[in-house]
Amino acid sequence: MRSYVLLAAIVLVVGVAGFPQEKKEVPKEPAQSKIPPEEAKRENPVKPTAASVAQGKHLYSSQCTMCHGVNGDGKGDLAVEIKLKMKDYRDPAALRDMTDGELYYILNKGKGQMPDQGDRLTPEQRWNLINYIRSLARKEPPLAPKQ
Ligand code: HEC
Repeated sequence: MRSYVLLAAIVLVVGVAGFPQEKKEVPKEPAQSKIPPEEAKRENPVKPTAASVAQGKHLYSSQCTMCHGVNGDGKGDLAVEIKLKMKDYRDPAALRDMTDGELYYILNKGKGQMPDQGDRLTPEQRWNLINYIRSLARKEPPLAPKQ
């Protein structure tokens, strides 16, 4: 009889303590990926002139190619190494549904594996970068065939 009581006690304790009902809420997207509508509407004050695009390209070459790729294909060394999922900026569809304001916001705040640029860049430098990135899709595809 005593052993039954003991068994019941063990079952009870294990039942209550051994299997805590843990429900972890896994957020679908990181919080910072939700771009406030007023940010998305922000207009690009810098015209995509040749000078702006050239400055954007200069910055891009030194700071962004390791992930976004030299030609914007998203296959930079680091991106390939840590298996990042990147867009191909040569494809006009890649950024078609995103506003300049949204790109600017992501550049400022980061998103997922995209590091935020903090105060390292001036607003004008950021807009130049966006003008450059947009220019990649406007051109004819680079000579190397897309695989
Ligand atoms: C460590 C790798 C890394 C570096 C360095 C990096 N990016 Fe990104 N970037 C990403 C990833 C990954 C995304 C996609 C984020 C997502 O949607 O979760 C992204 C997204 C973006 C986007 C939003 C559009 C898109 O492709 O989804 C812009 C604009 C952008 N990056 C610009 C830049 C610029 C400009 C630089 C250089 C100043 C830069 N990035 C440097 C990894 C990187």
